[in-house]
Amino acid sequence: MNRTLVIVKPDAVERGLVGEILGRLERKGLRLVAAQLRHLDPDIARRHYAEHVGREYFEALVAFITRSPVVVAVVEGPDDTWRLVRQLMGATNPVDASPGTIRGDLAVVMAENLIHGSDSPDAARREIGIFFPELA
Ligand code: CDP
Ligand code: MG
Repeated sequence: MNRTLVIVKPDAVERGLVGEILGRLERKGLRLVAAQLRHLDPDIARRHYAEHVGREYFEALVAFITRSPVVVAVVEGPDDTWRLVRQLMGATNPVDASPGTIRGDLAVVMAENLIHGSDSPDAARREIGIFFPELA
């Protein structure tokens, strides 16, 4: 799988970090093949985060991701592009994210960690299908 889904989350859009975040992916050598500013509704948010249903943070996560617009994007690169993006993102909890990563440089708390990236080839395929069915 050489494509992966990225969501520049509401906190990032609110803070004016869209260019910074997508720019980091572009400077790495990845190519944007789709991007859309979009206010997610709870149904699509729940579908996207289906694996987290039942976790104690689930409802807060849905409220967060739907609170204001996000940029949903598909990026393309070599095999394992999803893994390249995950490396650039850094650990889920910004406290653990290395300096030099998006979360390590720009975020302070897990609930507002700026970016989503698919975590496997199967997840990339599934998530691209949710947001960009025409690319599936
Ligand atoms: O985003 P990532 O794939 O790194 O992490 P995840 O484990 O798939 O969790 C999805 C998102 O849920 C995280 O990015 C956080 O925004 C949120 N989350 C949270 O708020 N509290 C947790 N204990 C775990 C996840
Ligand atoms: Mg995840």
